[in-house]
Amino acid sequence: MKNENIIEDTDIFSPYQQSLPNSTSANANIQAILENMDCRDGMKQLKENSVSLVLTDPPYFIDGMGDDWDTEKLNKRVKPGVIGSLPAGMKFSVEQGRELQKFLAPVADEWMRVIRPGGFCLVFSQNRLGHRTAIALEDAGFEIRDVLIWRYEGQAKAFSQDHFIRKRKIPDKEKDRLLQKIGGRKTPQLKPQGEMIILAQAPREGTFVDNWDKWETGLIDVNNPIINASQFPGTVIPSKKPKERYGHMTAKPVDLLQHLIRIFSAPRALVLDSFAGSGSTGVAAILEGRDFIGYEIEAEMATRAQERIKATLSDQNYRRITKPPLR
Ligand SMILES: C[S@@+](CC[C@H](N)C(=O)[O-])C[C@H]1O[C@@H](n2cnc3c(N)ncnc32)[C@H](O)[C@@H]1O
Repeated sequence: MKNENIIEDTDIFSPYQQSLPNSTSANANIQAILENMDCRDGMKQLKENSVSLVLTDPPYFIDGMGDDWDTEKLNKRVKPGVIGSLPAGMKFSVEQGRELQKFLAPVADEWMRVIRPGGFCLVFSQNRLGHRTAIALEDAGFEIRDVLIWRYEGQAKAFSQDHFIRKRKIPDKEKDRLLQKIGGRKTPQLKPQGEMIILAQAPREGTFVDNWDKWETGLIDVNNPIINASQFPGTVIPSKKPKERYGHMTAKPVDLLQHLIRIFSAPRALVLDSFAGSGSTGVAAILEGRDFIGYEIEAEMATRAQERIKATLSDQNYRRITKPPLR
């Protein structure tokens, strides 16, 4: 039955009809679009209250992974194990957090404009910069509800100092003294085992029930979680790093994104990823029967993401979605 309170906005995709990937009869209702453009321009085309869930993974703002993100340059520089060329993310500057917040502030304002009342905004963040992400969201008007952790097994990155001591042009006796004093200590990095996801929410209109009745946002669906299906979904969500990364250094696991989309949005909701990378969020949204809009600034990456999204839409195994769009 049609919910009269839902604002019908089915023409959100109309400017894109020409470029929408071909749908098969199995999923003709699902719409997904990925634009190769700066999200700060792209999101201006979206209407107020048109998005139910923002799920996104902005540039990290660490060591070359900022707003001038360049995969080619990064890949050239990343030579694990070579001390002279530190892996991406190792170089530390207090400016990184400030730059991230400055970059995210106008983006968060746009999220606030396009999201429905009560809608969730889930933003991946480097752990050491998560506070800046949270402040940008809070300043834009979101309520910070929680911090989720994507739990994975990373690789230890801490560096021993012995090599540098041995290279010093000092007497051997002094080297021995220093080596003994340092006692095998390493640079301050424990083995990474998780990444923060800031969970923010747009202010609701009225009670939880009234807000859901009008906007279908603001409540969570814990009935059928994808990860740890038999348990009540928790704030620490285990998921293996994806083996196939589609040429992207920080591709996120699709099962994790599906898990979040299923909990934090309604079927046929519109999911927005402003920093789409290889298109993982788009793939997850389609698999969960949600509409999707994404932006990716790098042309080559955007093409790959578009191909992934198109392939997912065309997957004959995709289950039939019959519910009409709720916009
Ligand atoms: C952390 S990655 C996202 C990875 C993605 N979650 C995946 O699974 O592949 C961030 C992406 O944002 C893109 N990006 C950076 N600035 C952007 C902007 N202003 N608009 C749109 N995309 C941008 C980068 O090119 C990069 O691919």
